[in-house]
Amino acid sequence: MEKARIVEKVKVSVKINGKTYEGLVEPRMLLVDFIRDVAGLKGTHIGCDTTSCGACTVLVDGVSVKSCTMLAVEADGREVTTVEGLSRDGKLHPLQEAFWRNHALQCGYCTPGMLMSAYFLLSRNPDPTEEEIKEAIAGNICRCTGYIPIIRAIKEASVEMKGGRK
Ligand code: FES
Ligand code: FES
Repeated sequence: MEKARIVEKVKVSVKINGKTYEGLVEPRMLLVDFIRDVAGLKGTHIGCDTTSCGACTVLVDGVSVKSCTMLAVEADGREVTTVEGLSRDGKLHPLQEAFWRNHALQCGYCTPGMLMSAYFLLSRNPDPTEEEIKEAIAGNICRCTGYIPIIRAIKEASVEMKGGRK
């Protein structure tokens, strides 16, 4: 009879939106599962689990990452920003407000990932062209909106953010 394989768990510590979360996890645990199940932050969605949809997009040390493509152990000691980290003092981020104003979401499943890709874009390029916006969200699939309102919202937020909050 084959022996049951015992997987040794590893301690992982990740700072998410400024707060440190620790867990004893299997080495194969994905970062998205750490975020959702260990940190309890359910805003980051899982759409495909295979790097295709972008619903799980977060920032790791300021860089956009599909969190289903990274292991939790690889994020040990690093800083992650999720969609919950965008609002401050109970006020929505300008990107979130622009999405709301422009009806840039319907079911909302893609929205957290879309917002994080847009946030990463504007952190690098505060005044993107329409082409640059399209390129930045090329890895994020939306099945509802047709993308036009999303592009409009990101452009509108970029204008607003130039005059104030990042
Ligand atoms: S769940 Fe990660 S890309 Fe789809
Ligand atoms: S709003 Fe439904 S998938 Fe984008």
